[in-house]
Parts: sequence; C-alpha cells; structure tokens
Amino acid sequence: MITPKLLVVGELNVDLLLNKIQAFPQIGKETIADEMNVCLGSSSAIMAANSAAMGVDTTFCGVVGDDYFGDFILGELGRKSVSCRHVTRIPGQKTGCTLILNYGQDRANVTYQGAMNALTANHLPFEMLADYQHLHVSSLFLQNGLLNDIEQILINARAAGMTTSLDLQWDPTEQWAFDYARCLPYVDVFMPNESELLALTKTNSISGGIEKIRPYLNTLALKMGRKGSFGVSGGEQLTVPAFEVPNFVDAIGAGDSFNAGFIQKYISGAPLEECLREGNLMGALNTTAAGGTGAFCDFNKISENIKDFWGIELSLS
Ligand SMILES: Nc1ncnc2c1ncn2[C@@H]1O[C@H](COP(=O)(O)OP(=O)(O)O)[C@@H](O)[C@H]1O
Ligand SMILES: [Mg+2]
Repeated sequence: MITPKLLVVGELNVDLLLNKIQAFPQIGKETIADEMNVCLGSSSAIMAANSAAMGVDTTFCGVVGDDYFGDFILGELGRKSVSCRHVTRIPGQKTGCTLILNYGQDRANVTYQGAMNALTANHLPFEMLADYQHLHVSSLFLQNGLLNDIEQILINARAAGMTTSLDLQWDPTEQWAFDYARCLPYVDVFMPNESELLALTKTNSISGGIEKIRPYLNTLALKMGRKGSFGVSGGEQLTVPAFEVPNFVDAIGAGDSFNAGFIQKYISGAPLEECLREGNLMGALNTTAAGGTGAFCDFNKISENIKDFWGIELSLS
C-alpha cells in the first residue's frame, strides 16, 4: 500500500458557469447565455484534484450536503483519483454552489456557501493524522467553522508530525479576522497572493506586509500573477519569474495550481527555489486551458504539455 501523503482540508462547491451572456442581467427581465458548464469548483478542490493529477497521493477532508451537487462533487474528485474518505455528507444541508457570470476577461460570482460553513475541527481525522505527511488548508474566510478552529487544527497536525500550508484566499467580509501572530508559527508554508497579503497586514507595500508577518513566518510563497512568485525562508529571499504562456485562456485557479506544484516539491524535500519554480510552472500550465482543472487531466498529459510549451521534463521528486 502507498502511504497517503497530502491531506487537503477545505471547502467544496460546484461551479455553474454561464458564458457568452447576451447582456447584463436586470431585475424583471430575462437574459440568455449561449454556453453553460457545470464543474468542480472551490479553491481547495482544485488544489487537491491537480495534486492528484500530478501523481501526489491526495485525500480530501471537507463537507457536502446530502444532495445532487454532493454526488457530483464526490464523483468528480473520485474521477481525479482524490480519496474522499474524509468527506462527510451532512443530512439536511445543501452543497455550496457558485454561479459565475463570465463576460470575457471579467466575471461576476455569486456564492451560496451551504454546507461549507459546517466544517469544523471535529471533521478532521485527528487519530489518523500521522498517516499523512502534509496538511494544506485553503479558503478560511469562506468557512466559519474552520476559521474558529484553525489554530487547534494546525497545532494538532504539527503534533502528529505533519508539515502544514495555508492559503487564506480573499475575505469577502474584508474583516481579515485571522490572527496571524498566533497561527503563522504553526504554518510551514504561507501562500497568499499580493492583494491578500496587503489586506491581511493592513499595509500598502509588499515589503511592509512581509515585515509585519516576518516574526511569525516559516516560509512565505507569495503569488504575483504574471510577475511569478516571491519566496522568503529564514534569511533567504528570492523572486522566480513566471513562465511565458503560449496560449493564455484564463487564470481561474492559477493560484491553486501554483499551490499544488509548490507543495509537491516541498513534500519531496526540494529547496525553496525549486518549489517556487514548480509552483510557477503549474500556475502557468493552469492558464492554458479553461477553468482550474482543465489543464490537469493526468500525469501523461501534464508532462506532454509542459515538454511542448517549455521544453521541461517533469519529474515527481
Ligand atoms: N498570465 C500568467 N502568465 C504566467 N504565469 C501566470 C499567469 N497568471 C498566473 N501565473 C502563475 O500562477 C501563479 C498564481 O497565480 P496568481 O494569479 O498570482 O494567484 P491567485 O490565483 O491566488 O491570485 C503565479 O504566481 C504565476 O506563477
Ligand atoms: Mg488564490
């Protein structure tokens, strides 16, 4: 039996994407969209699905409702070879859903959180944490239960010998009620993008933001879109430029794919620069197909495209 390696804890929801919409919706009127897709949504699920596609043994811990969208999510994760042994179905609850209205490069999202608020530390397999090597937590501000318990979850994971990573994602309430001074010491890799770092630290410069979190930080992997990524670890600091994308489609999920690439290298013990480069590579690959998982069918397809686009031979260690 292969030892389970990565445990992703986070939100699960369905994305309902409407494309080619003929006008902006208006109260009391009907608007036609010429294209529709239903797909696995949520940042945490995209990270997990793409890690599994890259060959990492991945298990998900989260909650869904006892409904059709719950069935759909379990089916999609299973198809991507993500183990759902710690996904709980909550009777009487509805699974979360995001309605995405796409207008070219811009989009308007409306999210119904549903069951995702119900995930708490009680759903985590604490007695089995030692079976896993690394815990990744994402989208704290979409999950009130998880936000309340985050410090304890991180402490327990560390006590079980796991390493940990955290991607807060944006806070829709813009309160940023995450106590970074208390929690970051238990986070091995902190993975915000630039605007999230600025909002969390209430600063207006990246260097100012980093100075605020530095006393509590282990490793920072800062995502900077087309500029690539910036890493800080102990005294080490470096920028790794982004890969040139030959056929950009959209950047939905690029940060989650970056996380998958970075963590795959991190758990294999690679140095910071290599982790950042792999994050950039997977972030760039993500942008070559629609949505967050379109470019991550399976290992063979991923390595074929990476060879074609950038002449790089993909390795799992
Ligand atoms: N247009 C792009 N071209 C090349 N790489 C990109 C592009 N957009 C994103 N990436 C890669 O994906 C990573 C994550 O994307 P980013 O947009 O910064 O994260 P988030 O989705 O969390 O905001 C970036 O650090 C970069 O390496
Ligand atoms: Mg992100």
